[in-house]
Amino acid sequence: MNRPTRYTVDDCKVINLTKYTRPNGNLTVVENNHITPFDVKRVYYLYDVPAGAERGGHAHKQLQQFVIAVSGSFDVVIDDGNKRRKVSLNRPFRGLHIRQGIWRELENFSSGAVCLVLASEHYDEDDYIRQYDQFVEYIKEVEQ
Ligand code: TYD
Repeated sequence: MNRPTRYTVDDCKVINLTKYTRPNGNLTVVENNHITPFDVKRVYYLYDVPAGAERGGHAHKQLQQFVIAVSGSFDVVIDDGNKRRKVSLNRPFRGLHIRQGIWRELENFSSGAVCLVLASEHYDEDDYIRQYDQFVEYIKEVEQ
């Protein structure tokens, strides 16, 4: 198997989307492959997250995601094994591209927040690394 490309938190960019403002409301569009930096195979959303709850707490080996706070706000902590960065998402016209091999934790959800996730792969539990110490080991292997 080919060695996976090693991405860092600095490769995880916040992408501003166009906001079409009209007197009767705003509209933002996310077009597959055009706006998203990958082909979208799956869409899911997190909602009704209780105050103080955390989501994520894992990394993916192959999966990339584009994460948008379509309502409310939350923080995404991303970690490449060497560096951690916190990105606050609080606008429906802004998304975070999370690259492969990045640990993520989603926290500090506001009341009514909705986290929309566009994913590059179908759901595959084998692609998850759910223990941080295993993630650190994985990164060491990839970096060798
Ligand atoms: P998980 O990825 O752990 O959620 P989060 O990262 O937001 O904390 O998934 C939670 C549960 O939902 C887990 O039992 C697997 C299931 N699930 C699916 O069946 N399909 C999916 O596409 C996703 C994202 C999760």
